[in-house]
Amino acid sequence: MRIFASFSVAVLALTSLTAFSQAPAPPQAPQVAQTPPMGWNSWNYFAGRVTDKDIRDSADLVVSSGMKDAGYIYVNIDDTWEGERDASGVLHTNAKFPDMKALADYVHSKGLKIGIYSGPGTKTCGGYAASLGHEEQDAKMYADWGIDYLKYDLCSFIPDVLEKQAPNDKAAQMRLMIGAYDKMGKALKATGRPIVYSLCQYGWDAVWEWAPALGGNLWRTTGDITPRWDRIYAIASQQAGLESYAGPGHWNDPDMLEVGNGKLSLAENRTHFTLWAILAAPLLAGNDLPHMKPEIKAILTNRDVIAINQDALGKQGARTYSDGEVEVWTRQLQGGALAVAIVAVGDSRYATHPFHLNLAKLGLHGPQAGKDLWTGKPITLTDNMPIEIESHDVLLVRIDAPR
Ligand code: GAL
Repeated sequence: MRIFASFSVAVLALTSLTAFSQAPAPPQAPQVAQTPPMGWNSWNYFAGRVTDKDIRDSADLVVSSGMKDAGYIYVNIDDTWEGERDASGVLHTNAKFPDMKALADYVHSKGLKIGIYSGPGTKTCGGYAASLGHEEQDAKMYADWGIDYLKYDLCSFIPDVLEKQAPNDKAAQMRLMIGAYDKMGKALKATGRPIVYSLCQYGWDAVWEWAPALGGNLWRTTGDITPRWDRIYAIASQQAGLESYAGPGHWNDPDMLEVGNGKLSLAENRTHFTLWAILAAPLLAGNDLPHMKPEIKAILTNRDVIAINQDALGKQGARTYSDGEVEVWTRQLQGGALAVAIVAVGDSRYATHPFHLNLAKLGLHGPQAGKDLWTGKPITLTDNMPIEIESHDVLLVRIDAPR
C-alpha cells in the first residue's frame, strides 16, 4: 500500500511537472496552516440543523468569549448548506443559508475567516449536492464568496465512482480517489485565494503519504469522533506512527474537538484537549457556544495548552511509554522545551496506584522544573515521584529547559 502510494505521488508529481512546463503557473497563494488550524465547526453540535444565524451567532461568540484572542480564527460551516445546481451548473445554497457572500462578509467583519464543506462525489455525507464534475466551478464560487477553508469529504465518491468504475480493484480505486483530491487541490490553487484544504476520507490508503503533494493542509486520520472517552482515546491511540507526516502547512487531523459536548466529564474534556495539543492536531471546537460553561471556556482558551498545540516547531508528539493504565505522552517544542502529559487512561482510579514517573524513559535526568499547565503552578518532576491522577484525567507539564 505504502509503496503504491509513493508510486502514485511520483506519477502525480510528474503529471504536475508536465502540466507546469506547458501552462503558466497559477498564482502562488500565501502559505496557510503554518500551525494547526484553529477555529470552530458547526458539525459536532448542530449537525444538519445549522443555519446562517447559527454561524453568525457563533462568530459573535468566538469573539466575545475570548476564543478569537486565544487563536480560534476559522468559523466553518460543515455539511447541509447546499441547495440545487441550476442549468449552468451553479450550485445554490439552500433556504437555511440565504446569502453566502453576505455571511462570509459578516464573519470577515469580525476579523475571522470562514470555511465551507463539500466532497468529490455527487452527494455529501448528508445527501446534499457535492462537487463531482463541478470542481473548478465550485472552487471559483468559494473564492468569490471569500471562503478561506474547504473540508472535502469522500462519502458518495465511494458508490458514485470507486464502486462503479473500479469494482473490486483497490489499487485503481486508490488512484481514482487521489485523482479526485488532486483535482480539487488544483482548482483551489487556481483561484489564487489562500484556502486551507482539509481532506476528509477517514485515513484510508495512507492519506498522510500523498495528501501534502496535492496541497492538503490537513487530512483526517480516522473515522468520526463522538463525545465519548472511549472513542477519543481510541482515536488518540491510532495516531501512533504518524508523527513524521505532520509539520508546518500539513497536519494529521484526528477529527474536530468534542470539548463541551455530550456527557464528557471535566477531566475527559481536559485530557481530550491536552492530547490534541500534544498531537499538533487542528483545534476546531464544535460545541454549543451560546451555552458554553465557564469551565469549558477555560479549557478551550487555556493559552499555555494552546501554545503547546501551536508550537512553531510543528513537531507532533507521541505516547512515549505506558505503565499499566497510565500513559506518558511527550512533545518536543521550539527552543528545546518539552511538554509531558501523564494520562490516566483507564476507568479505575486505582488501576495503577500510585504511578511512579520514570524520567529516564523520557531521556531526562535529575529534577525537572516546569509548569503544570492546568493549574498554572510551578511543579518539579523528579525521578520515581508518585503521581496520583484520577481516571481519565491528566497532568500536563511544560519543561522549558529539560535535562
Ligand atoms: C462525515 C464527516 C463529519 C461530517 C459529516 C457531515 O463524513 O466525517 O465530520 O462532516 O460527514 O455529513
